[in-house]
Amino acid sequence: MLIFKKVADLRQWLDRQTRPVGFAPTMGALHSGHLELIRMAKRDECIAVASIFVNPTQFNDLRDLEKYPRTPEKDAELLIEAGCDVLFMPPVEEVYPPGIDLTIELNFGVLDKVMEGEFRPGHFKGMATVVNRLLDIVRPHKLYMGQKDYQQLSIVRDMIRQLALPVELIMCPTVREPDGLAMSSRNVRLTPEMRAAAPVIYQTLQWAKSALEADVPRDEIKTQAMDKLRAAGLRPEYFELVDGVTLEPISTKGAILSLNDTGMGSSIVACTAAFAEEVRLIDNLVLA
Ligand code: PAJ
Repeated sequence: MLIFKKVADLRQWLDRQTRPVGFAPTMGALHSGHLELIRMAKRDECIAVASIFVNPTQFNDLRDLEKYPRTPEKDAELLIEAGCDVLFMPPVEEVYPPGIDLTIELNFGVLDKVMEGEFRPGHFKGMATVVNRLLDIVRPHKLYMGQKDYQQLSIVRDMIRQLALPVELIMCPTVREPDGLAMSSRNVRLTPEMRAAAPVIYQTLQWAKSALEADVPRDEIKTQAMDKLRAAGLRPEYFELVDGVTLEPISTKGAILSLNDTGMGSSIVACTAAFAEEVRLIDNLVLA
């Protein structure tokens, strides 16, 4: 695996390649979820490029940025095992050259206002800016991102559309621990008690799926789900049932209509965020 720290060096190498490039941007502290993105790129016969960059502009909470786990040596080993071809690990000034403002100002409508947008102000602007910058540097044919961050993926999809970027976005299903907890770099920060409690998030998402199928009113699903998370010792911020494309909250009536009419392409996704002590966890499940 080649490791590049400078944009110019990476570009010089990539410019000499003929095979399509598959790109998985990450913030490091890699786990099997990240590695699955690389494996998908390899299955698609791409040159697999991973980036590790803890993007300061997408952290609305400075403590979270400070405490974000950093394990570069182990990450490189894991990437080699997964068959990654190139690792791009730029310092901040390579991504954000001093004196140049690369912030993108797009109107994402509802997409960046609800859920994470409400609880993490500025997060998606920073995320979209860095993904756009990284796409500009790597110029991949395919971009691999995880369903784990459903709202992030929806915003990146919309950014690609609005800027007419020549890249295909590929969604990787959420990789989970055997007990259902979605893999996340933040999981290593969980205390043993919170690690034991955290699977309640996935259990609650699954419960919501059966409740929706049993026609339980949406507001009741939401209230009961929040109660279940609280009862397990977590502090939930939201539990929402949203349209899988627009991310607009759905009404129970709408949900039943979508289910019965089976309108092609329509889906209902349950999304949640909850604190396990000071560690913020998110997860989602496509319900219908
Ligand atoms: P990070 O949280 O490191 O995640 C990098 C990629 O891995 C994202 O596309 C994310 O959805 C995916 N991922 C994380 N956990 C996963 C899991 N359990 N299963 C499947 N995929 C998973 O998301 C970011 O970094 C940043 O916002 C980034 C896009 C790199 C921009 O800074």
